[in-house]
Amino acid sequence: MPVSPSQSALDTAGEGAKQIAELFYVMLSGGIVIWLVMIGLMIYAIRFPGQHDAKKTRLLVIGGCVVFPTIVLTALLTYGLSILPELQRPAPPGSQVIDVVGVRWWWRVRYRLPDRETVETANEIHLSVNEAAEFKLTSEDVIHFFWIPSLGGTMDMIPGRENRLKLFPTKVGVYRGVCAEFCGAAHAQMSFDVVVHSRADFDRWLADQTQGVIDIPHPGAQVFLRRGCSACHAIRGTVADGVIGPDLTHFGSRRSIGAAVLANTAEHLSRWIRETHEVKPGVEVPEFDAIESDSTLCLVYLGRCGDDSVCVPAVDCRRLANGT
Ligand code: CUA
Repeated sequence: MPVSPSQSALDTAGEGAKQIAELFYVMLSGGIVIWLVMIGLMIYAIRFPGQHDAKKTRLLVIGGCVVFPTIVLTALLTYGLSILPELQRPAPPGSQVIDVVGVRWWWRVRYRLPDRETVETANEIHLSVNEAAEFKLTSEDVIHFFWIPSLGGTMDMIPGRENRLKLFPTKVGVYRGVCAEFCGAAHAQMSFDVVVHSRADFDRWLADQTQGVIDIPHPGAQVFLRRGCSACHAIRGTVADGVIGPDLTHFGSRRSIGAAVLANTAEHLSRWIRETHEVKPGVEVPEFDAIESDSTLCLVYLGRCGDDSVCVPAVDCRRLANGT
């Protein structure tokens, strides 16, 4: 699986993005042809100055300024409108429904399960390849803007309103999603990773997410509880049920910290906890410069191990969890 997230609308990995890229190339080609004709006329006018036949000139003005743009713009409008119904069509019944809520400056992500339960995660979206996913989008505070350039179109996230967007990924890989509308100080640091899996890998991921932390009481979870982080964050399987900040169940399996600001490594987590406001100015989480680095290392191991995470802590998390 390619690991570097692509954030280009022309590097397409989804049906919607492919149609939008094709529309871009058609409009670009049309623009280039019109530009060449205009440059040709300009060169002609410079090379052959002086009086021109009045009738021919009138014909050129009417043809070039009225008839030609009308034909070109009508054709482009018809083509542009023709791709809209497919882009706007909801995902078929039975597709995965994912609620995404924009919050300054991160993403609350909830997967709806068949039994009407939901499972919450944050700042990372997982999808199954060659299957439509239906996104329900809203915001908790200001207007945000949901965009995964490689997969498809964009949609506003508006407080008090639920917008929808269908995406249909066609290539396994990791892509980058962004907030594409200015929403305050850390707007530029409000991103997320999108991991597109095979169906089997997606099912495995979702099954993992539905479980609480493994190995209860997980040493990392105990460190987390002792430090009071549970006032804002939840970890399913423990007494931590804060709802203000991102759900941190399976945090250790995620690729990034702070809404795709830092890669999820022990060093970065340590830096995030101690220097949060230097790393992401404006963010609401307080700095905890008193947390010792061994504790932060234990926090990294919250949740299941992903493909590339290290599963064995280098320090004795159980000793730290017990406060000894
Ligand atoms: Cu959220 Cu910009």
